[in-house]
Amino acid sequence: MLIRLYIILGVYAASSYAANHTVFKTCTQVGVCNRLRDMPSTAQWTYIKHNVNGDNTLVTVKLEIQKKTYSLFIGLLENHKVRLQLKDTSRGAKKRHEIKDVLYPDIPKSIRITTEDDDGFLTIVPNDATMRNHSVLIHKSPLVLNFTYNDKTLVVLNSSSLNMSYDKTIRDIGFTVKFEDAQKLYGLHHHAYNLELPDTTLKTVNGSHWNEPFRLWNSDARDFEADSPMALYGSVPAIYGHSKKSTAGIFLHNAAEQWVDISYSHGSASARFMVDSGSFDLFVMLGPKPEDVVKQFTDLTGRAHMPQLWTLGYHQSRWSYYTKEEVLEVVKNMTQNDFPLDAIWLDIDYTDDKKYFTWSKNFTGEDGNGVRQMLKILGDDGRKLVAIVDPHIKVDENYGVYEEGKNKHFVKVKDGRTDFVGKCWPGNSSYVDFLNSAARTYYGNHYSDNSFNHGHPEVLAGIWNDMNEPSVDDDQHEWTMPSDNRHSSKGNRKFDVEHRDIHNMYGFLHTMATHEGLINRDKNGTRPFILTRSHFAGSQRFAAMWTGDNRADWPHLKNSYSECMLSNLMGHVFCGADVPGFFGDPDPEFSYRAYQAGIWLPFFRGHAHKDAKPREPYRYEPEVQEIIRNAIRMRYKYIPTWYTLFYEHTLTGAPVIRPLFYHYPGTVNRNDHIMLGRDILARPVFEPSNETKTIEVHLPGNPPDFWYRVDDKSSKIIIAGTTEIIPYVDANTSPVFYRAGSIVVLWDYDVSSTAETVRSPRITLYVNCKDDKNHTASGRLYHDDGFSFDYENKNKHLYVDITFTEETGLKFEEVPEDPDQDSEDMKIYVDKVIYNERNSGSTYKSTRHEIDVDGNLFSNIDIVQAIRNDKELVYKLTR
Ligand code: NOJ
Repeated sequence: MLIRLYIILGVYAASSYAANHTVFKTCTQVGVCNRLRDMPSTAQWTYIKHNVNGDNTLVTVKLEIQKKTYSLFIGLLENHKVRLQLKDTSRGAKKRHEIKDVLYPDIPKSIRITTEDDDGFLTIVPNDATMRNHSVLIHKSPLVLNFTYNDKTLVVLNSSSLNMSYDKTIRDIGFTVKFEDAQKLYGLHHHAYNLELPDTTLKTVNGSHWNEPFRLWNSDARDFEADSPMALYGSVPAIYGHSKKSTAGIFLHNAAEQWVDISYSHGSASARFMVDSGSFDLFVMLGPKPEDVVKQFTDLTGRAHMPQLWTLGYHQSRWSYYTKEEVLEVVKNMTQNDFPLDAIWLDIDYTDDKKYFTWSKNFTGEDGNGVRQMLKILGDDGRKLVAIVDPHIKVDENYGVYEEGKNKHFVKVKDGRTDFVGKCWPGNSSYVDFLNSAARTYYGNHYSDNSFNHGHPEVLAGIWNDMNEPSVDDDQHEWTMPSDNRHSSKGNRKFDVEHRDIHNMYGFLHTMATHEGLINRDKNGTRPFILTRSHFAGSQRFAAMWTGDNRADWPHLKNSYSECMLSNLMGHVFCGADVPGFFGDPDPEFSYRAYQAGIWLPFFRGHAHKDAKPREPYRYEPEVQEIIRNAIRMRYKYIPTWYTLFYEHTLTGAPVIRPLFYHYPGTVNRNDHIMLGRDILARPVFEPSNETKTIEVHLPGNPPDFWYRVDDKSSKIIIAGTTEIIPYVDANTSPVFYRAGSIVVLWDYDVSSTAETVRSPRITLYVNCKDDKNHTASGRLYHDDGFSFDYENKNKHLYVDITFTEETGLKFEEVPEDPDQDSEDMKIYVDKVIYNERNSGSTYKSTRHEIDVDGNLFSNIDIVQAIRNDKELVYKLTR
């Protein structure tokens, strides 16, 4: 076993820097892709008849193909969505697996519909005339389904492209969706590629040979390549078609292996899905704006709850910190060198021999009190600890967690009786069957073990769920478990579900178990923080995600922006990438650029492979430390804005970080630009200095709109819609802009962790006037206790509109859409107001007034108090 383990670690240590293509298959090596990729579009489905159910919410169309009958169920959902399910209803047909738990429990129900059957067309529209913007128009022969918004077809499903295998063993599904209006397609998260999906049917992409479809098959893709369609750790089978005119999307509710070809030929964009098994359950989302589609998708798959405030700070990790002393030393060095830090992370080596929920002697010490002491010291210092807990359980008769799960809670081999045993970090391991609710409870309960928490669950505050694709050291099965393994959907009674049907949601279910475990451990008093590597549509409800084992190099750094912006568009807002990268020993320049870029991703953690040279921020030369310190400090300044955006996500599903096209439709191919909400735009430097000393920045909008450049205090404004070459980029440059007309809220002072600010939140308001004549601006601010569910269960939070006009000065008012907020205990103090105004008549100049209100005009404003008293708050700015 020792030798075998060495081999596993050896793979990780490989410095060849390329994904292992002898392990991961290409399209031609995989049955479903091979069978369906070049299949001609000639299927002939015959429309037999349709009927509408009793309460007018569902249309069933009877179809026939090669003497088999199928039922196509069509329902319209609120907010411009359609659901289509195709089922084989012929005699003796084997039932296909239908996944559960992925859709948000309260997904909007089907609405009442009216049908018109006329002249070879069946039209389905909402009954309620006020909702009548979306409809399904079915052309009966040949069978073509058109999904329309305001009578314009946005999505088309032509039945000639639809294949459903009726073979007993082959369960393929193939279909092509056309996005009529789209200029670009987005989606199929997670791949390391640009946001814009390329045409995969051409022989070359970006000048290199490619010709592979995108693959969705959650894989431990260690050392994955940048700019590649290869499958990574998570899957979101959704695509948005976007153009300046409209945006529409589709979501295939299916967790089996999928391959997807993208094509832009014949003047329209299309996606061909080739699916290994499971059922055909397709949602169509008719937008028509990017924000509408994101809302529609998160209506279906849910939204993240608020994160705890500390999770938005800086996290320091490494594979591994091996002893309690090392952990405390790293934290001490961070503090002594003035690097803010909220959490320190423990990778697999903190455990006793890779047995999760146990601790090694290096932490417990001989007297068994070491962990408790360490947690106490960290807690007193305002820091948190995050520990890794993987889904594989070491096969060891002396390990209680294994003994309890054996023959009950583990995934079975094909026979449905024998526990599956595969290899991972501990050697022989069994894998928890997270499909089974009893197994989820068994696993989740261990988070409450006192032998794990050592009396300080409030400090052991986060859990890292890794290797949950699931990863198994088995080349034959592409480093995962065999597809014919069995899971139980019925609480241990029958192992009735094949792994292939749920493979892509194994990690999702793992985090669901952990989430439930932490909710129980903390008696529903604290919002769980979980980081997961594998994920599926809807994972945002349980965990944050990161992009996995990236390399510390420029292409991976650049890809991390596309990966996380896409993840945000697909509902999973809490996304980050290892800074400066998992593999490699980057030079100082790359490292500080990675920190400057990393601060603009929602999850911000330094992490490194075990063979990488130690690279905590305080280990660099003083001048590099200074650049990294400034970057991390800058991150902390924006936490009030991050927090407000996370709250807005909980309300509408809105992404926290956004590509330009989200607010400026049609502004595509700008993946090195990132918007934090609507008002802040960052364009970090992704170019090494030996290649360029200038970067190109595009400020979206139409003149006379403009943006204030705020990172260098140059008082420069940049007119929107023009491209500006910034003449020179030095080590400290990482451009940031505020939209004219916005109010941006910051913590404009240095802290050692978020714990410092929780005690007395003080903010600075950046009032960025709309233009030289119109001195108005507005923004929003959210605040709560930073950790509990009271913000939701008891409405204990503050959410205010902040507006400024010359006449009224600054005003704070409750956001009208959130009228029930109970903000009694929420106090925020305004420290400073920075007032940016465009100089009259000037194209490029602005003036910045800094008004220190501490002990002066704005001293200790108890905003809430005044609002509750229904007083109008008017504070005139003295300029
Ligand atoms: C794989 C993860 O991606 C990486 O971040 C971690 O350090 C190793 N597993 C060891 O747990």
